[in-house]
Amino acid sequence: MNRAHNFSAGPATLPKEVLEKVEGELTDYRGMGYSIIEASHRSPQYTEINNEASERLKRIVGAGDDWNVLFLTGGASSQFMMIPYNVLDENRTADYINTGSWSKKAIKEAKLFGNVHIPFSSEEQNFTRVPTDEELELSDGATYLHFTSNNTIFGTQFRNEPASNGAPLVCDASSDFLSRPIDQDRYGLIYAGAQKNLGPAGVTIVMIRDSFVEKILDRPIPTMLKYQTHLEKIFNTPPVFAVYMVNYVLEWIEEKGGVSYFEEYNQKKADLLYEEIDRDPFYRGTAEKESRSLMNVTFRINHEELEAEFLKEAAENNLVNLKGHRSVGGIRASIYNACRMESVEALVDFMADFRKQNG
Ligand SMILES: Cc1ncc(COP(=O)(O)O)c(C=O)c1O
Repeated sequence: MNRAHNFSAGPATLPKEVLEKVEGELTDYRGMGYSIIEASHRSPQYTEINNEASERLKRIVGAGDDWNVLFLTGGASSQFMMIPYNVLDENRTADYINTGSWSKKAIKEAKLFGNVHIPFSSEEQNFTRVPTDEELELSDGATYLHFTSNNTIFGTQFRNEPASNGAPLVCDASSDFLSRPIDQDRYGLIYAGAQKNLGPAGVTIVMIRDSFVEKILDRPIPTMLKYQTHLEKIFNTPPVFAVYMVNYVLEWIEEKGGVSYFEEYNQKKADLLYEEIDRDPFYRGTAEKESRSLMNVTFRINHEELEAEFLKEAAENNLVNLKGHRSVGGIRASIYNACRMESVEALVDFMADFRKQNG
């Protein structure tokens, strides 16, 4: 089998073990005579998968009984709207840290429902960094503080949870969820599109805490957009195939040693790449050093006209999907949990060769 070294930002590479397992079950799920995607979402088989995925997720992050797990549709982008729709109004304020395009989209939606205060923005610095706690101008009594833990496009990432002046954290963790341990107690809600670190596209994972559910406003909210609808029961057909695969990715994460294993593994991969970038001025990292992402390593070649050639030759060497986001250009290596060390090593070798040829 020819598996490419795939650095796609999302949908992204998945563990081969998981893909093979799914392949083996695709015509007959455990003797049922048909696959899980041909079964009712009310079947005992799917119910078990849904419950198992939910329990696994809680175990992996160390969440207590006051946490609920939802498998929703509509992407992380729908959560930009759903969160403020449920808990913000003209009498409430939420703090939104602006560290990139996804934060901006979340801010735009929140403003439709309530007051939004921006305690920090790096927009004027082209989103090359995330804030320190000292830089945050937090409001008093915010309903929540929203942040994007990893900025997929700009290659920046929060090292730790930001200060929030007592407000519960709401986090768009789409591009680094389960890549490292987090301080679960500080959060009210965490959401992530699955298609980077957790599975295929189609399901958005939402973890919501009881204390955050209590903040939901008593006002008319369309049924599908109300968290309570989904907390009470599986309301409509969930993205069965995506949840089924997420469950296997979660199993794989647990087998490997959980989030602390991936924290170390991801750090090692990122260190290798940044070391190569920093070796001399031929390559240049785009994010400020203290803000660098361990998930999306973004860089330029100092002679930018060489970038197209770099991408072309990389692809010829089986190193694929390295083009930076269309809004910023450059090169981006996305090295989520399932990206293997050998892929990063192959990329680093290629980068060294390319420098030798063109430097
Ligand atoms: C940090 C972050 N938030 C949100 C999104 C949007 O997710 P979706 O396409 O699932 O709506 C992305 C997609 O790349 C992302 O990287």
